Amino acid sequence: MITGGLGYIGSHICADFIKPEYEIVVIDNLSNSSIDVIERIRTITNQVFKFYEADVRDKKKLRELFDTYNFSSVIHLAGLKSVSESVQSPIEYYNNNVNGTLSLLEVMEENKCYEFIFSSSATVYGTPDSLPIRENHKVSPNNPYGKGKLMCEEILNDLTLSNPKWKIGILRYFNPIGAHPSGLIGENPKGTPNNLLPYVTMVAYGELKCVHVFGDDYPTPDGTGVRDYIHVVDLAKAHVLMLEKLSSLKEPINIFNIGTGKGFSVLEIISTFERISGKEIRYKIVPRRLGDVAECYADPSLANMHLGWYAENTLEEMILSTCGWMENKKQL
Ligand code: NAD
Ligand code: WQD
Repeated sequence: MITGGLGYIGSHICADFIKPEYEIVVIDNLSNSSIDVIERIRTITNQVFKFYEADVRDKKKLRELFDTYNFSSVIHLAGLKSVSESVQSPIEYYNNNVNGTLSLLEVMEENKCYEFIFSSSATVYGTPDSLPIRENHKVSPNNPYGKGKLMCEEILNDLTLSNPKWKIGILRYFNPIGAHPSGLIGENPKGTPNNLLPYVTMVAYGELKCVHVFGDDYPTPDGTGVRDYIHVVDLAKAHVLMLEKLSSLKEPINIFNIGTGKGFSVLEIISTFERISGKEIRYKIVPRRLGDVAECYADPSLANMHLGWYAENTLEEMILSTCGWMENKKQL
């Protein structure tokens, strides 16, 4: 089962998972995705898969699905993902992200399905004390979204202590960007985006006027924030490897950073996007955004070592694929 499988990251995971050795069932409540994505994944893979419009908090529906299918594992992506929205609406975020995870785990346990891969986030680290960030860095999220992710991680840890049959993979994503090389799936934010790449993309394609660069007085080489941008296609591959390796990993709970290990500043992103797209990107420096850290990038060596996973795509490739998606999207 893949929850949230029609979303940005989930759709790329589905596109990678549709192979003869897997039968996938996707559930999504379509709160941040569109039903058309199914057809596009079918075009990419030339395969069909089962989809149910369902909410992960709906235990009755989950029980029906677990009665119908003999699930071996669950990849759980369903959730809300905006840090700023989570500050405005903490109840909605804890309800969706923490209760959603709990109800899913409850039904899994009833059905003796013990393999679980969870979408966590670099946000759980909060302000880094040291860089690159390793998985044993202290966790100290400073917003309800990140705190909810950490609560889920702790629930998962407690589960493995209660029953050794659980096998858990926790992937802490850094900053996923880019799109599928087919140009058929990619990020499709509703309204004005909060994240840098979708914002820069919309400015490049004339949908927004000017990028607001949040601060140029950070202790970084050019004063703007530095992040570890990871191609969504590389991120998707980490899930397939995680599932393939999970049963043979020694530990019941396995936490891996999924990032490239390399940081780029906001101004580097803007200039690389201009170069790759050939489009002018207007920007202006504005005050820092509350809660932002100067620099954040991963040490991905645990994922390299235990999963055999490596980020393969360069920043140029990530941006090129975004441009392909933007061009193609108009005709979809
Ligand atoms: P997304 O919004 O594109 O995808 C999430 C999907 O889950 C959507 O299709 C949405 O309709 C669905 N969904 C939400 N709540 C649901 C519920 N209660 N029941 C069923 N479906 C539900 O987001 P994404 O970027 O693909 O993120 C996927 C996961 O990865 C999320 O858990 C997110 O927190 C996590 N994550 C994302 C990022 C990022 O920057 N995109 C970084 C770190 C972690
Ligand atoms: C990147 C850099 C901003 C927008 C967030 C979540 C994280 C994960 C990914 C879910 C920073 C700067 C941004 C803009 C800017 N999501 N910026 N102008 O904050 O690293 O991470 O998304 O799990 O949990 O916290 O990503 O893309 O918002 O910002 O200057 O309009 O771009 O200050 O330096 P962030 P981001």
